[in-house]
Amino acid sequence: MSKAQIGVYGLGTMGSALALNMADNGFQVAVTNREVDWIAPFIMEAGTLAKNLHPHDALEDFIKGIKTPRVILFMIPSGAPMDMMIDTITPLLDAGDTIIDGGNANFHDTRKRSAQMAKNDLHFVGMGVSGGESGARHGPSMMVGGTNHSWTQLKPILQAISAKFQGDPCVDHLGPDGAGHFVKTVHNGIEYADMQAIAEIYALLRDAGGWPAAKIGDLFEGWNDGALHSYLIEISGKVLQATDPDTGKPVVDLILDQAGQKGTGRWTAIEALKLGQSASAVEAAVGARSWSSEEATREVAQSLLAADTSPTNLPDADDLETALIAARILGHAQGFRVLQAASDEYDWSLDMPRIAEIWRAGCIIRSSLLDDLADALRSDPPQGELILAPAIRTRLETSIGALRRVVTAGISGGIPVPVLSASLAWYDSIRTARGSTNLIQAQRDFFGEHGFKRLDKSGNFHGPWKA
Ligand code: 6PG
Repeated sequence: MSKAQIGVYGLGTMGSALALNMADNGFQVAVTNREVDWIAPFIMEAGTLAKNLHPHDALEDFIKGIKTPRVILFMIPSGAPMDMMIDTITPLLDAGDTIIDGGNANFHDTRKRSAQMAKNDLHFVGMGVSGGESGARHGPSMMVGGTNHSWTQLKPILQAISAKFQGDPCVDHLGPDGAGHFVKTVHNGIEYADMQAIAEIYALLRDAGGWPAAKIGDLFEGWNDGALHSYLIEISGKVLQATDPDTGKPVVDLILDQAGQKGTGRWTAIEALKLGQSASAVEAAVGARSWSSEEATREVAQSLLAADTSPTNLPDADDLETALIAARILGHAQGFRVLQAASDEYDWSLDMPRIAEIWRAGCIIRSSLLDDLADALRSDPPQGELILAPAIRTRLETSIGALRRVVTAGISGGIPVPVLSASLAWYDSIRTARGSTNLIQAQRDFFGEHGFKRLDKSGNFHGPWKA
């Protein structure tokens, strides 16, 4: 029997979908799963694709069934299960084999695992896979780290199974060790900011405008034909239009206001801070999800804390749409700044325009904006700053006023708009040549003699505070 070109370990939702996608593209795929009783039903459901799928119950047989140097994709929970799997599989592998972690792993772990495997002449690839189950089955966006050797092995398979944007595969080798997982983490951070910004616009329409869910859904559906064209606006429109079959009410009105999170948004905010940055839009989105889980406190606080609001003049729909465009640009720009800082820190030479390009299809943040951002990043913007690229500056010039009006409406009406306001605060900070941290420096010097620099003389100075 001829050997498989790749192995897939882990037949959960994402692993199954990726294995079927590979089989559908004509690749011979060895498959296995920790719970062996999942394997036969998977093969049954694969129908005619089963001819390209080679099931194995035992790990040893699975490994022997893959041609060398092997490539094995693991779609298993990240963290301890991955470390246990590395320990189990290492003695069974040969020099030059590659194993891939396709989960949302922390890139620090990926770096450690790559170094550990390299000691045995084995290759470890951290690969971000975006697009959910449907993306994995029909074309995900994939962000690949690891060695050039691994990329040479993986490239034909990943290019074939990836999403395509006008024929261009939405996958690339972005850098060594943890680069792929880091880029996926930041993708998710941007995803958090974008989702929360959309939710804030929904809150204004619902709470200040009194709009029913379906009407907001119709508005979003219309926006999806314009500058906000994106997967997240599309699904938000659909979600808001859906009716609960049991009650006849909008489904969204029946869902608890408590958002889950698995960690990637938080990691983006944490890594940004560690790198001397602040992805404030992402951090605001993470905070909004965290506060949402404090339902009991919010219930009590609603009656105890004064709002002292003014009546909200809900901005018109055009303003809301335009504000969301501005916030989306600023959220993405913060994400690219974090990527640049990490690229410098870890010596990854990340190709920013290429990252924007591989996010244009397949992934959760895919949008028409990303094509414009890719062009802007290629145009060598001043200071390397996306928001200073002429095309993006023009878009901000025509949208920032709307963001200002929408944030003002939220603030005066007491409707929280943390991501919209964080985005605007960052925009205003970065365009202010002389800000207010001269006072921070004076305060630091006053209590800690930290010293400060002066506008009019060079050197380090202290103030006359004790005089
Ligand atoms: C994707 C998604 C996917 C998932 C994340 C976010 O790119 O396909 O980002 O990876 O939705 O796990 O999950 P949380 O919102 O639960 O953190």
